[in-house]
Amino acid sequence: MTGGAGYIGSHTVRALRERGDRVVVLDTLELGNSDFVGDATLVVGDIADHDLVVDTCREHDVDAVVHFAAYKSVGESMQHPSKYFANNVDGSRRLVDAVLAAGVDRIVFSSSCSVYGTPDIVPVTEEASVDPESVYAESKAMVERILAWYGKIAGLRSVSLRYFNAAGASSDAAIGEDWTYSINLIPLAIRALLLGDQELQVFGDDYDTPDGSCIRDYIHVDDLAAAHLASLDYLASGGETTVVNLGTGVGSSVLDVIRTIERVAGRPVPHRIVDRRAGDPVETYADPAHARNVLGWEARHDLDAIIESALRWHEQQLTTSS
Ligand SMILES: NC(=O)c1ccc[n+]([C@@H]2O[C@H](COP(=O)([O-])OP(=O)(O)OC[C@H]3O[C@@H](n4cnc5c(N)ncnc54)[C@H](O)[C@@H]3O)[C@@H](O)[C@H]2O)c1
Repeated sequence: MTGGAGYIGSHTVRALRERGDRVVVLDTLELGNSDFVGDATLVVGDIADHDLVVDTCREHDVDAVVHFAAYKSVGESMQHPSKYFANNVDGSRRLVDAVLAAGVDRIVFSSSCSVYGTPDIVPVTEEASVDPESVYAESKAMVERILAWYGKIAGLRSVSLRYFNAAGASSDAAIGEDWTYSINLIPLAIRALLLGDQELQVFGDDYDTPDGSCIRDYIHVDDLAAAHLASLDYLASGGETTVVNLGTGVGSSVLDVIRTIERVAGRPVPHRIVDRRAGDPVETYADPAHARNVLGWEARHDLDAIIESALRWHEQQLTTSS
């Protein structure tokens, strides 16, 4: 598993270990935490290191790869495109060459709903046009296409999972998303609530939506982890290359999220409405039918469960750091 010391990867490591799979994590630890990999084997290194990847696959008898490692900041990708094309695209291309050289022909890839750009129709199906609006999204779309070509030419079989908005934390509050690096709504809203040092900015309340704020599909990180297990099983049973949306199928507005946090926490989230932000799609949420049909997977956690787990995790982080 590449990037297994990061947010979504570490939840997937746990889920795999809980069902008894052997897991070896390859992570630079640049943005990950070695404590998060639990009892999985950790190899500290880069996906672009061909010899390390080949040796790791051979030494640990790897039969499938789950590929999380990437940079993920949309804003940064527009300021430093080369950094994103190098790590996310060229790093992935090198990884795939190395795993094929080691005889591994199955890969589950972390893609993103951002490949759709601003969707014309919601819920979004996998047939919607791919129209990235950032270098980050483009890097994901490019890797999907690289994987498809390697499927045609080299016999690689892959599942590209287009995550909607990952959120939440493990139910025991042991692992979760570090708000230091996050620009996502839920960690930032909880930060505003718990620290009170800065207001949450809500980018626009005059969109054509029921409450005027943008609508997204928040998916619990443990549901994402479960989808990776289902994808590995799908490939192990001979499944062909496919792309799959991972979302709940339910859209929640920014103001819904704030109200839910306030209800769960019993305290207000300090926030203020500011101007719309360029490039924000008004409304996007997944059609999860393909995931159900192909992977037999569907989300189990709703927004309340996501927020309860995230709040517990952030409160616990504050307690242990003080
Ligand atoms: N978090 C989200 O909402 C979201 C949504 C859609 C897609 N994704 C994708 O899911 C994946 C995981 O996201 P996350 O939120 O867990 O991110 P994260 O930053 O927490 O984890 C990424 C991990 O990859 C490692 N890494 C980065 N480059 C590496 C390299 N070259 N070699 C080895 N390790 C490297 C980092 O150290 C980190 O531990 C990413 O590919 C991301 O683009 C995330």
